[in-house]
Amino acid sequence: MIKKTTAIFVFWLLGTGVYAQQIRMWVPSDTKDYYYLLQESGAKMQAPDLYDPQKASLNDAVVQFNGGCTAGLISDKGLLLTNHHCGYGAIQSHSTLEHNYVKDGFWAQRLEDELPNPGMYVTFVRAIYDVTGKALRGVTDDMDEASRQSQIDKNINKIKRDISIKPWQEILVKPAFYGNKYYAYVTETYKDVRLVGAPPSSIGKFGADTDNWMWPRHSGDFSLFRIYADRNNRPAEYSKDNVPYRPKKFFQVSTGGVAPRDLIIVYGFPGRTREYLPAFRVRQITERINPVRIGIREKALKVMEGFMRTNDTIKLKYTAQYARIANYWKKWKGENLGIRRSAALANKEYWEQLTEKELAKKDKADEYREVKTELENAFRDLEPVEIARNVFIEAGYLNNPWMQRAFDVYEFERNLQKGGAGAFSEGKEKLLSRLETSFQKGDRRVNKALFVAMTGVLKSEMPEGYLPAIWANNSVDDIAKKWDGSFLTDESKVKLLLEGDFENFEKALKNDSGYKMARALIDNFYGGINPEYHQRMEQIQTLMQKYVRLQMQAFPRMHFAPDANGTLRISFGRVQGYEPRDGVYYEPYSTLDGVIEKYIPGDYEFDLPQELLDIYQRKDFGKWEVNGTVPVNFLGTAHTTGGNSGSPVLNARGELVGLNFDRVWEGTMSDLYYDPAICRNIMVDMRYILFVVDKLGHARRLLNEMIIEKHQQ
Ligand code: ARG
Ligand code: ASP
Repeated sequence: MIKKTTAIFVFWLLGTGVYAQQIRMWVPSDTKDYYYLLQESGAKMQAPDLYDPQKASLNDAVVQFNGGCTAGLISDKGLLLTNHHCGYGAIQSHSTLEHNYVKDGFWAQRLEDELPNPGMYVTFVRAIYDVTGKALRGVTDDMDEASRQSQIDKNINKIKRDISIKPWQEILVKPAFYGNKYYAYVTETYKDVRLVGAPPSSIGKFGADTDNWMWPRHSGDFSLFRIYADRNNRPAEYSKDNVPYRPKKFFQVSTGGVAPRDLIIVYGFPGRTREYLPAFRVRQITERINPVRIGIREKALKVMEGFMRTNDTIKLKYTAQYARIANYWKKWKGENLGIRRSAALANKEYWEQLTEKELAKKDKADEYREVKTELENAFRDLEPVEIARNVFIEAGYLNNPWMQRAFDVYEFERNLQKGGAGAFSEGKEKLLSRLETSFQKGDRRVNKALFVAMTGVLKSEMPEGYLPAIWANNSVDDIAKKWDGSFLTDESKVKLLLEGDFENFEKALKNDSGYKMARALIDNFYGGINPEYHQRMEQIQTLMQKYVRLQMQAFPRMHFAPDANGTLRISFGRVQGYEPRDGVYYEPYSTLDGVIEKYIPGDYEFDLPQELLDIYQRKDFGKWEVNGTVPVNFLGTAHTTGGNSGSPVLNARGELVGLNFDRVWEGTMSDLYYDPAICRNIMVDMRYILFVVDKLGHARRLLNEMIIEKHQQ
């Protein structure tokens, strides 16, 4: 019954071009909200195959990887598949000039060769409970924010006490729908995760920044890790006595591939979306906030590029930083474009009218209008401090290596205020090593040029009243001069200071004119900008809670999915191409032929390993061959976001056919507004991964661990 009404309703909305059910990242335990849709799309599994808290199910084969990505289990010995860009830090940390695993790839030939990664962890979700009723018990609308929160905190503590868990498990309770719903998650975290294999960067990052967020794509963005456990198969800190983890469940691989229109299911941990915002706010983000961030990053990237183009040593040093900054610079540009192209604002406004009409039938239209107006005002009042916060974060930190050093010193200084000389001798080595890494990783000329450019930004972009006088009243030149002699810009001075005594260091902090300026800026952030921002955001959260509740009340039969919040979700869609521009259609597949077409010898983005070129010459594709080539990447309509990288992609039977790693540029507005016409997720075809493991990694032992079948859908 519910199903039919919803289907008709959604269909009608689709006809109008308004996508009410924009967000399609389902909470696995909410089977009633999505399973009928999966079935209609051809799923050949039962709901409990995907998620079941009582017995082994596919959720037991998915982990959150090191906090920010996803990974999937692919053998009964704890073998994990994730992206190359998710494992990159680990791969890099084991690389030296003699063993350059970033450049040449890495393949552990035996279990003993697998490399431990201190600090790395993966988290399973074993069970999910809707605990809304319990979390909101005793909470009423007339409560002020503080009492409301304290009641909820009390309730959450009780929820945690009431759910029985094993000693090695944890419970996490998180709000959804801006606090209209609460879920409890039973999790298990494993902390011994070892590097097993990675292709050379020329395959894993093929196309690098130029191809990032783009289609057609030709990247082998994968790496392999393994979870280790103690003798009882429980989580344990690293120990050489640990053994490969025996999972409850792991994915079987299908080399049958998927065809256009076939169902794909992405199982992973999407980080953050904001689909329920009013049109007003989306306009503000795209017209007022994004341009500030894009503009600042553009300046920083130009500075770096100028040096990188003419100096190879600098290029090497700044490649990773450049890539990090370029990633979201490019994403925000795509986001703005997509919001325009999908007419998101008009569609959202239309949706708001419909909501109001529905609420009028329930005598709630006035309340809705009131909340909306209050929200608009609150967002408008937020704008100056939100811009200030972004300018500070971008220009005063992320794109400014000198200021990053100042931050490290600032943290240290805070410890000194509490712990005095003791804290100095305790922490100075760690600080010294952090600062030395910063000096080694960077180049003084580039850092200075970045500092000068970012000082210009701070002075010109910071909204009225948010820049400390010492920055406002000095010219960029004067400021740069003050910093030139600072220990923050001179490795030998830093060494001398941190190897000397406490008093001397304190004196330097007091007198160093660069550091004094940095401190004024950071103090102003922690003491002014940030608290104001959070206070305003809290008020907005309260209004958003009401706003979203009204939307749900307007359409009680609709199935809503909550915004991404870093918890386990199921997204699904179809294999499908798209039309990026008028008159252009993109096919949903790419192949090894396209990899070779893009090859530029010696280029830092499009070079290829000789071995791959030789294999291509010989057409030695083994059993991974399809129509005389090897499938490489493909496109789907699953709703994904940052954090979904490394997510296993399943066919209708629940077999592994791909590995999620990116989205298309024109559709990156899907974090604010998902439009099925242009939003696409990008995946690596499993056959390319197996081909690389086999033909370049020569890692038969890994292939032998997996269960590989050749089903067609
Ligand atoms: N765009 C992808 C994602 O957002 C890939 C990022 C990795 N590549 C990079 N250039 N940083 O994370
Ligand atoms: N590349 C992203 C990630 O690392 C995925 C995305 O934003 O689509 O999670």
